[in-house]
Amino acid sequence: MGCGKGGFTLALAQRYPEHLVLASDVMMGRLKLLEKKKQRRKLDNLELLRASNLALASFQLPPRSIDRIHLLCPDPWPKRHHRVKRLVCTDFVTRLTRILKPDGVVHLATDSAPYFDNWLEIFAHFPAFRAAPAAIADIADLKTDFELQWTAQGIPVRHLAYRLQG
Ligand SMILES: C[S@@+](CC[C@H](N)C(=O)[O-])C[C@H]1O[C@@H](n2cnc3c(N)ncnc32)[C@H](O)[C@@H]1O
Repeated sequence: MGCGKGGFTLALAQRYPEHLVLASDVMMGRLKLLEKKKQRRKLDNLELLRASNLALASFQLPPRSIDRIHLLCPDPWPKRHHRVKRLVCTDFVTRLTRILKPDGVVHLATDSAPYFDNWLEIFAHFPAFRAAPAAIADIADLKTDFELQWTAQGIPVRHLAYRLQG
């Protein structure tokens, strides 16, 4: 969700050719460039969607259809008066429970310490989600374009993973 330039997406699709990877973003320009890279690498298991994260989670994806969601470096909206624009909130997490398969995993990452702490508080309200760091161990080496940018500047990016109890 919010794949951006798609470095992580391409690596994920390459690593798991037997899985369908859906990559979405609202920016058509980014998706067009990613489509070219996908064609060059012949990644038949990668599909690109122009869609908003909220629409995908709310009604565009079928219920219980997704094994693992990656929401990596979403805009943190650091200014206090912009916080209402943040995607991750209890309402959004409720919508994620609609599209995840039982035992499905949501993987989040951010460079923003306040946003990260906020995620911990939000997920604490969902007993159906259990912290599951091992659920993303297989992709710990795959970094998004934003994560590479932040870490090159010495800014840590922290990851969370939660499994929806089946
Ligand atoms: C900070 S960038 C991170 C991109 C990528 N995940 C990464 O880590 O390199 C946030 C991305 O989310 C996309 N985005 C912002 N709001 C969105 C929304 N409501 N639905 C889907 N994508 C969105 C932006 O277009 C942008 O590509």
